[in-house]
Amino acid sequence: MADSEEAMAEEISLGAPGDRPRPCHVAIIMDGNGRWATMRGRPRLFGHHAGARRVREIVEACPDLGVKYLTIFGFSTENWKRTQIEVAGLMSLFRSYIRKEARALRDRNVRVRFIGDRPGLDEKLQALMDELEEMTAECTGTNLTIALNYGGRDEVARATKRLAEDVASGRLLPENVDEETLPRYLDTYVLPDPDLVIRTSGEARISNFLLWQSAYAEYEFIDTLWPDFTREVFAGVLANFGKRDRRFGGAKG
Ligand code: IPE
Ligand code: IPE
Ligand code: MG
Repeated sequence: MADSEEAMAEEISLGAPGDRPRPCHVAIIMDGNGRWATMRGRPRLFGHHAGARRVREIVEACPDLGVKYLTIFGFSTENWKRTQIEVAGLMSLFRSYIRKEARALRDRNVRVRFIGDRPGLDEKLQALMDELEEMTAECTGTNLTIALNYGGRDEVARATKRLAEDVASGRLLPENVDEETLPRYLDTYVLPDPDLVIRTSGEARISNFLLWQSAYAEYEFIDTLWPDFTREVFAGVLANFGKRDRRFGGAKG
């Protein structure tokens, strides 16, 4: 095949860059705040504050980039192992983030949801989370889900407990438990599965994030530390997604 024919065939099979598949649901493990601060000789919380500022930019970029669902990992069920100072600083940051961003999120038509074990968080924070969910319940733009006190195993365990209660009470028959039923008990029951999971900071692990939901997600592990994750870096990662061949267990042709 002549070069130009080859190029044309590739163009036809891939489509123009604008037609390449885009992820509808992107989930991000926002990692590297601590290292970012340490590199600057500052306390870890300085990095968490810089990271929180980056969240706004990334949420705002979603409509233009075709991302309808964005799920971000803010605090894991394992992060309680950190020092009391860091944990308290993070909880205070989450409270102030919600207070400061609530109106802007609603005005930008962003629907906010939280996933994770809510009763394990302090009551003031829980109240702010409930309020923000209520305040944005009618928004129809980007669906932003924030994972706080979230762990994939914890989520599956909590879901199984409720499923078992339904079986015990006769509301659910054991023979009806299948791949469709179980996810209805997960925190993410209203969300589609993520198409793409991005982790910043160079670590190539999932750290207990969206275990069930990511069964067929594409992964991107990038070296950028979360506070340096700009809209441009985000756009670059999404462009890469368009080149992937997602087979879901099938075969080509
Ligand atoms: C991610 O940054 C934010 C949270 C886990 C809350 P880290 O705090 O894990 O930053 P590193 O990995 O120590 O650099
Ligand atoms: C995952 O990052 C949790 C969040 C980003 C909130 P961690 O920094 O806690 O994960 P590990 O400890 O490196 O696996
Ligand atoms: Mg980390």
